[in-house]
Amino acid sequence: MMNILEVKNLVKSFDEKIIHQGISFSLEVGETIGLLGHSGTGKSVLLRSLIGLEHIDEGEVYFHQKRIDHLTEQQLYAIRTKISYSFQNAALFDSISVFENIAYPLFEHTKLTEEQVEVRVREILKTVNMEDAIDLMPSDLSGGMQKRVGLARSMVLNPEILLYDEPTAGLDPVNVEMVLEVMNRFKSKGLSGILVTHDIPTARKICDRILILKEGRIGFNGSIEDFDKSDDPFVQSFLLGQ
Ligand SMILES: Nc1ncnc2c1ncn2[C@@H]1O[C@H](COP(=O)(O)OP(=O)(O)O)[C@@H](O)[C@H]1O
Ligand SMILES: [Mg+2]
Repeated sequence: MMNILEVKNLVKSFDEKIIHQGISFSLEVGETIGLLGHSGTGKSVLLRSLIGLEHIDEGEVYFHQKRIDHLTEQQLYAIRTKISYSFQNAALFDSISVFENIAYPLFEHTKLTEEQVEVRVREILKTVNMEDAIDLMPSDLSGGMQKRVGLARSMVLNPEILLYDEPTAGLDPVNVEMVLEVMNRFKSKGLSGILVTHDIPTARKICDRILILKEGRIGFNGSIEDFDKSDDPFVQSFLLGQ
């Protein structure tokens, strides 16, 4: 198998506080990894570190076998169109329409004409079943609908990897299902993903593999099957937590 992303011995501290002390894993093409760990174990920091939004102290990050951890801001800018990160609590811009929210990265990063942008925005809204919302304002939408528009925005530049930071947190079951459906649709297009979540049923439905952070290291790395069968009490505590 070909890995699309590889992390080698990543070390990260904030002042005296050690967050990661040697994280290594790889993400295969088309695979979705579920990244678990108790609150404060550094899941969000890890996602941000992958795309240079956090400075790392040691280690290497490879995208298609090319190192990306010491690129310039300008080079990282290009990488971030390929590896899309939807922030935890990612919000839409309140003062502009759904159309403008999604068009924004296109105007920023591409040379598409206004007509081409509109075509692309409609197309991407369709994949999240939100095409009727194109002229609405974010405040007209439910929380779950806003999440779906946010996912559409993270997809609009055709990334190869989606980093999802707790996309279903705070959603009711119906909206969780809808977000899951969207993630599954992206996955079926061949996209790779890393999903940070506390929502084990959702992880189970979309992830091929589970990683669990523990005290700055990878405490578990295995298939969903291995995860279910594990007799490690630490791993079981996550299974029981569902
Ligand atoms: N910019 C920062 N400066 C200092 N400490 C930070 C910063 N960002 C995160 N941290 C700390 O790093 C740890 C991991 O944070 P985070 O990745 O957000 O955890 P998680 O997403 O797993 O809940 C936390 O203790 C947090 O307080
Ligand atoms: Mg977090």
